[in-house]
Amino acid sequence: MERPRGSCHAAAFRRSCCMSAAGHKQARFVSAGLEFEIAIDFRGKVIMDNKKHWEQVYATNASNAVSWFQEHAEQSMRLIQGTGVGKDAAIIDVGGGTSTLIDDLLFEGYTNITVLDLSAKALEVTRRRLGNRADSVTWLEGDVTQLTLSAQHYDLWHDRAVFHFLTDPIDRHAYVQQAMRSVRPGGHVIVATFAEDGPEKCSGLPTMRYCPESLHAEFGNAFQLLGHEKVGHHTPFGTEQKFTYCYCRME
Ligand SMILES: C[S@@+](CC[C@H](N)C(=O)[O-])C[C@H]1O[C@@H](n2cnc3c(N)ncnc32)[C@H](O)[C@@H]1O
Repeated sequence: MERPRGSCHAAAFRRSCCMSAAGHKQARFVSAGLEFEIAIDFRGKVIMDNKKHWEQVYATNASNAVSWFQEHAEQSMRLIQGTGVGKDAAIIDVGGGTSTLIDDLLFEGYTNITVLDLSAKALEVTRRRLGNRADSVTWLEGDVTQLTLSAQHYDLWHDRAVFHFLTDPIDRHAYVQQAMRSVRPGGHVIVATFAEDGPEKCSGLPTMRYCPESLHAEFGNAFQLLGHEKVGHHTPFGTEQKFTYCYCRME
């Protein structure tokens, strides 16, 4: 399905325009039969309404029909188990969406898991899939760059395919501050993004691409880089996307 880009292409589809309370110009447009809302800031930069975008993605696509679908998040699972955290460790899956990682963590006996996502629809789909098992999980709907997570609470932070959507350095800074604040000293941080030769966009949105060094540089020395891997993800559409996985420990 064709999705709008966070770029000037959107203007071609514009149907209506007004001014938001934040001083952004709001515009609605239709692409591939779907209605989208964007904001245009004072520099004329198009800002996609991120939450609406992701709600629409999960409302209109089956979980196993999105490019990032994995039947099992094997790489993530292996790295999480490799940290040696206990089964009662506080684990957060940031931007977990409808990932099956939660299913496998519960199956392996992890008991203290939080799934955070911008999209209420994604969380609802995952909860429904898990049935009764969902009751033992903490569900957080919100933007990882804006929520106030408990300080020094998490033993393990996991993010696959979320950080690379943060194209604005201000958002990346907020994300890193969030991780620094909410992961306890000595805790583990696993972040997977598109690799330097990975896709330039996903779900119609522009993405950043990182090698291990540039990804670690975003986080800084408070995050001790213990390992990294490059992995090819095979999408349901038969294409391959290169990912960089970095595994860090908080100082
Ligand atoms: C490409 S999907 C990856 C989902 C999941 N991590 C996986 O590997 O299957 C990106 C996810 O990040 C969520 N997301 C995007 N921006 C976010 C933000 N700022 N805060 C929290 N979640 C966000 C989206 O709703 C979506 O579920």
